[in-house]
Amino acid sequence: MSKENKEENNVKNIDTDTFTITDNKTGETIVMPGTTGAMGNRLIDIRSLFGKTGLLTYDPGFTSTAACKSDITYIDGNQGILLHRGYSIDELANQSDYMETCYLLLYGDLPTPEQKEAFDNDIKHHTMLHEQLTKFLSGFMRSAHPMAIMVGVVGALSAFYHDKMDITDNDERRLAAHRIIAKMPTIGAYAFKYSLGLPFPMPQNSLSYSENLLKMMFANPAEDYEINPVLAKAIDRLLILHADHEQNASTSTVRLAGSSGANPYACVASGIASLWGPAHGGANEAVLKMLEEIGSAKNIQKYIKKAQDPDDKFRLMGFGHRVYKSYDPRAAVMRESCHDVLRVLGVNDPKLELAMELERIALEDPYFIEKKLYPNVDFYSGIIMSAMGFPTSMFTVMFAIGRTVGWISHWKEMLNDNEQKIGRPRQLYLGEQQRSYIPIERRGHTDRRTGWSWLWGGKK
Ligand SMILES: CC(C)(COP(=O)(O)OP(=O)(O)OC[C@H]1O[C@@H](n2cnc3c(N)ncnc32)[C@H](O)[C@@H]1OP(=O)(O)O)[C@@H](O)C(=O)NCCC(=O)NCCS
Repeated sequence: MSKENKEENNVKNIDTDTFTITDNKTGETIVMPGTTGAMGNRLIDIRSLFGKTGLLTYDPGFTSTAACKSDITYIDGNQGILLHRGYSIDELANQSDYMETCYLLLYGDLPTPEQKEAFDNDIKHHTMLHEQLTKFLSGFMRSAHPMAIMVGVVGALSAFYHDKMDITDNDERRLAAHRIIAKMPTIGAYAFKYSLGLPFPMPQNSLSYSENLLKMMFANPAEDYEINPVLAKAIDRLLILHADHEQNASTSTVRLAGSSGANPYACVASGIASLWGPAHGGANEAVLKMLEEIGSAKNIQKYIKKAQDPDDKFRLMGFGHRVYKSYDPRAAVMRESCHDVLRVLGVNDPKLELAMELERIALEDPYFIEKKLYPNVDFYSGIIMSAMGFPTSMFTVMFAIGRTVGWISHWKEMLNDNEQKIGRPRQLYLGEQQRSYIPIERRGHTDRRTGWSWLWGGKK
């Protein structure tokens, strides 16, 4: 609001942090409070709207809805800013390490050296899995997608740590949070090794989180394994870049599941399920498949056209974001990391050339400019992981390992928030009005079309 308007309002004695909503059908008005966080957009606080008026708001995909308060992550999508607890993502990616970032997200501040050591140590002492869990894992088909295994096995952790779990107890919450962060690399590595028919690796406490993850993924038990520090650093950066991203689909899923008081391992499993979709974490896998499909730079224009065709389902994967309407700041770091990794590995991956050319062409294309579609974090992460030797099916698993701290930090924050209630959205009902039941023998042929495909997708 401009200075002049504020002054004018003060003269009229209107509280500027309110909104007056007028019902144009009845002429009635209601005043709703406004609010602003530490940074970011103003909000209309509509909590009392339904109670006072019986009105609901309609907002599929929550594009205009803040469902909670949070201190963890701030995003300015227009400026391409991402802050965790106030620290910018590129400072964290370049100067911090993943364990420190986990501590920051969970506890609100960067740790002192003693706090860091205690945290590292505690995480290291929860990395092993219960032997029974390995038996559970062995029940999967060898060909199972590792994300299917992640959903199942992380969900199954709740069966191992349920009876004693009291989520109202802070120590138990902390234990659950540390356990899940510690065990995710082991579960991810088991899922990978299982698909290859290789023995389950053991975590090693002398290694850092990322070194241990790298070793569990790639070491051959019959041979010595030397950690490549550049690759360990790249893994660490990748985990930092995926650590949290505010109220995205999977984090909101974890919050929604947790809002009923559910077991935290089950809540994280629900987040993994949500992450798996190609519009979310599954996009990194989809980017690589897309680059393979495009094949060479000469085909780029054809695919750019397909992406713009409203009748074609093809989208440029790794492009566009619900919140970022400028370059995703994580993509910029990832792009740099991608070059480092390929240089160190001596890999001359034509997919990187193709990705850069695709990015260049798309960023100059009026359709992508007008819709503010820029590369997101998934655009380059797949190329890094592929160069390291991860199969495409493991990309989203790596994302899930990194994001676990974000999920559990939001779960913790939600449980400590007195204003949070069980998540229960309302709806705009478009179905039949009340009608009388007709016994089956009296149901004649109606003009409704039949057939399974119509029943699953057809419109009346
Ligand atoms: C991320 C994503 C789901 C955001 O979706 P959203 O905020 O709901 O935005 P919409 O899907 O409504 O997209 C807005 C417009 O841009 C277009 N658009 C969005 N992403 C596009 C893409 N990757 N390629 C081509 N067109 C795209 C949509 O068709 C839509 O066009 P319209 O206005 O003519 O209907 C979407 O950009 C996408 O599917 N991207 C590809 C998948 C991906 O990389 N996901 C990872 C996110 S980190």
